[in-house]
Amino acid sequence: MTDSFVPSKPRLRAELRVSAAGAAELHTSGGVLDVEPPDGMTQDDFVRLLSHLDGSTTVETLASENGIEDSLVREVVAPAVVWGLVDDGAVPRASSGLAVLSRLEEVFNRQLEDLIFSGPFWQAVLERPETVHHNVFYGFGLENWFFLFRENEFDAAVLALAENAEMRAMLNGFYHEEHRHDDIVVRAFRPLGVGKDDLLRARPLPTTSGLIKLLSWWARTDPMFFLATIGILEGRLDSDTVGANGQIAYDSFLSACDRVGVDADFVGPMREHARVNAGHDHASVSRELFALVPGVDEDTERRWIAKTHLFMEAYAEFFNGILDYYADPRRPLLRSVEF
Ligand SMILES: [Fe+2]
Ligand SMILES: [Fe+2]
Repeated sequence: MTDSFVPSKPRLRAELRVSAAGAAELHTSGGVLDVEPPDGMTQDDFVRLLSHLDGSTTVETLASENGIEDSLVREVVAPAVVWGLVDDGAVPRASSGLAVLSRLEEVFNRQLEDLIFSGPFWQAVLERPETVHHNVFYGFGLENWFFLFRENEFDAAVLALAENAEMRAMLNGFYHEEHRHDDIVVRAFRPLGVGKDDLLRARPLPTTSGLIKLLSWWARTDPMFFLATIGILEGRLDSDTVGANGQIAYDSFLSACDRVGVDADFVGPMREHARVNAGHDHASVSRELFALVPGVDEDTERRWIAKTHLFMEAYAEFFNGILDYYADPRRPLLRSVEF
């Protein structure tokens, strides 16, 4: 029998009594069980070992204190676990979900500065928007549409997350709030003569696809890490700025659009989506979800921290890919697929 499930600090869930004849009895609410030592163990050693299963001592210490091999302790404890007579007294080593998320966010925020805001796209949009071809602004809208249209690829993958019922309900709420956000943004492309049918025949940049596929993979293989990225993906750089037109800018991109006078019919629906997003406070989704997570172990936290850089590189590529492609006005706005 494999004994890999033996608790680190076994705790007997039954009352141990010794009969007049010296036999061990385990008294439970369901009845009395007569138990016998395995081969190679005396009755006295067996009773002494059972009496020490109080959930405060490790298997290794139990073995050395009782002068027996670890394997013999496991041989006694493993069948008792199977019968539901032993649980674990060890205190789980874990940090609260929010504590882990705040450490992750610290890393994310540093990477946002190092990889995203200092990268070519955001440097151009934030520092010298007047030098940026308007197609880059439109391209940002288009690639965001591709992302939103495919968002169900990753959001749907976490709907059945079994972590707990409250979290599942929250994820369902988020999914419904996100549903058809692409239809808000699609209206932004009317001034470009681009409708939904045209978009359906077009393909995103490889850098946009890369981000979508990476998130889809994580949503399926490491869903909690994916949930940690939502706060970044939904977060706005700057939620209070009033743009040049006197409207709330909602984010730095819209503020730059205002500064350089990008077509108002394009900016309006983009602002509408940002307003809806801010209204639902989607930048806080990760925190609300992680507040429901009772504990995260150290190895898991380390694994998530190790993944942050790849996520942020893919996110940086999403932005920089837009500048790379759309800055050349000879290139078509839509990369249509011919069937
Ligand atoms: Fe959205
Ligand atoms: Fe959102």
